Amino acid sequence: MQAEQITEHDRVPGGLGWGRRYLMVEPRHFTVSYRINPWMTPGVRTEVALAQWTALVDTMVALGAEVVRTTDVEGLPDMAFAMNGAFVVGGMAVPSRFRHEQRQGEEPYWHKIFADLALDVSDLDASPDIRFEAGDAFLLGDTLIGGWGFRSDQAAVAALAGQIGAARSLEVRLVDERFYHLDTCFCPLSEDLALYVPAAFDPPSATRIAAAFPDALRLTEAEAVTFCANSLLIGTTIVTAHLPNRVLTWLADRGYDTVTVDLSEFHRSGGSARCLTLPLDVPVPRQP
Ligand code: ARG
Repeated sequence: MQAEQITEHDRVPGGLGWGRRYLMVEPRHFTVSYRINPWMTPGVRTEVALAQWTALVDTMVALGAEVVRTTDVEGLPDMAFAMNGAFVVGGMAVPSRFRHEQRQGEEPYWHKIFADLALDVSDLDASPDIRFEAGDAFLLGDTLIGGWGFRSDQAAVAALAGQIGAARSLEVRLVDERFYHLDTCFCPLSEDLALYVPAAFDPPSATRIAAAFPDALRLTEAEAVTFCANSLLIGTTIVTAHLPNRVLTWLADRGYDTVTVDLSEFHRSGGSARCLTLPLDVPVPRQP
């Protein structure tokens, strides 16, 4: 769509209904010491990562977000990725059941973090062998959209949808290992608008996303590998590490501002802005 075709109606619609209050984990021990996704490359400068993270927090706060901070644990370098701790909705946290043993050691710490936040920590309502990683799920209105294939199992998406009272679950299969979590290839902006990477999904899943988000921007592979789908939306501002020009224009045409923060050290682990932030203010789904 060209700028001149966009009507006022298209500009900055509804928003997400969440995304003002976040949990973030100060990355004092962040590094890359194993490889569970193809981005993971040793050589992280932990001090630089901490400075980048601090700049991200400052940016978010300046945009009006509230950030609840906790700290990571030595030897569990991926704890920086708060998004992966649990799916939080209303007063409930459903913790991840990590696929890889390298991250399973995080689980007791996440349980404690959420309990300390006075959340009701509820194990996923599915048999213990079903894997679930937060980062694979977003709640948009009364629909849970959940990615599966690399980290989460398909059954986890349906189980989570039922557990949190979502009216629908949109289950999408991830097929490109570079986009191993849904939040690496799908960036919701509202209940109707999103950025997504069609090639990261199997064809039936890409078709379902296209049907649910007909006005979404489809990212090319070259755009996707910048991690721009792992951007964060605060109010009407996109917080991101990179935005390719076409994406920037598309967003600007719809009334979104953008702020860029260098997160290069986290890209060495396969994560960017969204992964570092866990929204704590997702409301329970509307009941019909
Ligand atoms: N190294 C981490 C992993 O592979 C990165 C996680 C990024 N988090 C996310 N929500 N995509 O698990």
